[in-house]
Amino acid sequence: MHTQLSEWSNNMVSMYQISSSYEKKLLAVKASENFSSYIKSFLKNKKKSNDLISHLKSLKYNQKKITLDQIIANLILLFNAGNEATTHMIGNSIYTLLDKKYSYGTNNKENEQLINELMRYNPPLHFFSRFAKEKVIIEDYVFENGSSIGLLLAAGNRDPKIFKRPNDFLPNRSQINNLSLGIGEHFCLGSHLARLELKISLKEIYKKFPNLSLKKKPSYLNSYHFRGLKELKVKAF
Ligand code: HEM
Repeated sequence: MHTQLSEWSNNMVSMYQISSSYEKKLLAVKASENFSSYIKSFLKNKKKSNDLISHLKSLKYNQKKITLDQIIANLILLFNAGNEATTHMIGNSIYTLLDKKYSYGTNNKENEQLINELMRYNPPLHFFSRFAKEKVIIEDYVFENGSSIGLLLAAGNRDPKIFKRPNDFLPNRSQINNLSLGIGEHFCLGSHLARLELKISLKEIYKKFPNLSLKKKPSYLNSYHFRGLKELKVKAF
């Protein structure tokens, strides 16, 4: 089932483009319809347990605080956010490590710093937007009520006022704050899971293939929302 879920997720997020073809839009609609039907039957058969889906289900059926559509929308958000961003974060990180001739080691403190720096240096999500709900003035900029604002998170990660040598990959950088998981009210709900997945995958990959090296310089997807690789060709031995 996970292959099917990934395919639906890929088709849904392919909508996040500057201009998406009619065929892509149709695929995205079809994928969200299929995903919704899957969730409906999944919810029907799901036994109560101590997990997020059971809690959402109980909010709907016992307390009538959430609708079925809201559950489906939240699960689609969770699934797409969790699947796509993490996949590209792992690919971008392996590429950065290979390109910078660095590897994932065994020292926990060093690994923590390394994970932060990988997230700062080469994140999968660069851009989110907001709408001003009232007139806002930030330094010399005036945002009128209703105007749309692009937040360039990845550019913030390279702010020379905050980060010394911002364009260099420094695996031992001690500064931990960066914007790759967002900030404020919408800070990434899956931040701990995202870091854990990155840690575990790098640990396991480097344990299995300690001599990993780059076979060919990869290129990035021509994508608006996610910054990730088309493919990554490596030599394992
Ligand atoms: C490396 C992987 C990930 C990155 C780089 C990432 C990044 C982000 C960012 C930048 C935001 C803020 C969006 C905004 O300000 O509008 C966000 C929100 C969110 N993320 Fe992640 N994320 C990752 C993994 C995950 C995972 C694994 C999950 C869940 C399984 C997840 C679930 C969410 C959800 C539900 C939100 C929306 C939170 C809200 O609007 O209140 N993310 N993520």
